[in-house]
Amino acid sequence: MKISVIGLGYLGSTHAVAMAQLGHNVIGIDPDDSRVQALAAGTLPFFEPGLEDALRQAISSGNLSFQTDHDDLSAVSDIHFICVGTPQISGQQSADTSYVFAAASQLAAVLRPSSLVVGKSTVPVGTARNLITNMRKATGFTPKLCWNPEFLREGTALADSMSPDRIVIGSDDLEYNQALKSCYQKMIDQGIPVLELDLETTELVKVSANAFLATKISFINAMAEIAEASGADAVRLAEAIGLDNRIGKSFLRTGIGFGGGCLPKDIRGFIARADELGVGESLAFLKEVDQINLRRRQRIVSLATEELGQVSNKKITMLGISFKPDSDDLRDSPALEIALRLQALGGIVTVHDPVSLEALEKKSSGLISESDLLAALKDADLVILGTEWADYKKLDPEAVSSLPRVKTIIDGRNVLSVEAWQKAGWRIIAPGRNIVND
Ligand SMILES: NC(=O)c1ccc[n+]([C@@H]2O[C@H](COP(=O)([O-])OP(=O)(O)OC[C@H]3O[C@@H](n4cnc5c(N)ncnc54)[C@H](O)[C@@H]3O)[C@@H](O)[C@H]2O)c1
Repeated sequence: MKISVIGLGYLGSTHAVAMAQLGHNVIGIDPDDSRVQALAAGTLPFFEPGLEDALRQAISSGNLSFQTDHDDLSAVSDIHFICVGTPQISGQQSADTSYVFAAASQLAAVLRPSSLVVGKSTVPVGTARNLITNMRKATGFTPKLCWNPEFLREGTALADSMSPDRIVIGSDDLEYNQALKSCYQKMIDQGIPVLELDLETTELVKVSANAFLATKISFINAMAEIAEASGADAVRLAEAIGLDNRIGKSFLRTGIGFGGGCLPKDIRGFIARADELGVGESLAFLKEVDQINLRRRQRIVSLATEELGQVSNKKITMLGISFKPDSDDLRDSPALEIALRLQALGGIVTVHDPVSLEALEKKSSGLISESDLLAALKDADLVILGTEWADYKKLDPEAVSSLPRVKTIIDGRNVLSVEAWQKAGWRIIAPGRNIVND
């Protein structure tokens, strides 16, 4: 099939490569010229394991090309996927859907009545219907439109795109879905379930799934607050309740909380949309979910302050700065925010991260970047593990014990062996636990 993918960020770049891997002829479109040029040269503008190799293969197979605007070739696509960003509006809770509407209106200028438009961006419920109205006005015909939310996770993006747990398609007419199902036929043949719903339910599937996951994380972090106050251990608690198969152990690890370009802005956007619909009370609990999550960041700052006495002029090493491992995405990263707060308190904060230092440089944060892990640990008064990269999980505490000035580590993600670190002479502190150090 002929496909256009509009918007080439984390979602769109991955989707374009995935569609090319399925054998389709794909044109990626993004107004950011430097992004388009980099992608056309086989370079990803962000870090995502395995995606750059797959990008290069897709380009050399002749199945994938990139451009900044629609042209006659992209206009005749069988399917146009809208994959542009929907960030939080600055100073507000709502999602900014202006990029989606702009992309749709640019598409409307070249759209053929036979082509299918598929929205993949995460949008507030009601957006798809407004898009249909706008595009109808611009084109003079009712566009065939489906919504098809994306559930990929950064770090495993391509595998998630090719093998999702389910494919959800929303539309006003089951006929529209046929082209999309043909496009995904190879995936459907693997046994991936397809749910065909109305537009509103489909839009809600994505935001409510993210709200549920955020709630699960904040639930265990609320238990961490109780555990900290009562002498209990939230890590063992999570283990015990997670073994109940009605609850399950995923998304139940206590730590410094969630971040990134999706969960935080998606729950806030969802709260704002519920308010607009006059049912704000239904999602009042999500405000608490957000607050619990943000309190975890301050908790680490408080633990650091307790350990250091005063933060000013103390050398603090932050291990990991991206919002999650296997990604260089710094959007709403808890580790980055903690590092910046400690810096604001006068701390001299050195940051190590296996891949995100380049992304950090672009932020002019004032944090000291150190690409050598051992050099980053040297002379530290306090070490904080902010992102659970494999490199840190396998750190040998014995081997690095001579490097810092003070052998104290805050394990912000609860991934280190308390026993091993203590045995090597470290003090280890972790959120949600009451670890006794000698
Ligand atoms: N990142 C993820 O893990 C993920 C997962 C699932 C869903 N989503 C959703 O996917 C959407 C995109 O997220 P992202 O992380 O890829 O965002 P992003 O900020 O990385 O990328 C957005 C891209 O859209 C481009 N763009 C803006 N206006 C455009 C236009 N008019 N035409 C073409 N391109 C345009 C931008 O230049 C940018 O390259 C969001 O709604 C997000 O919530 C993201």
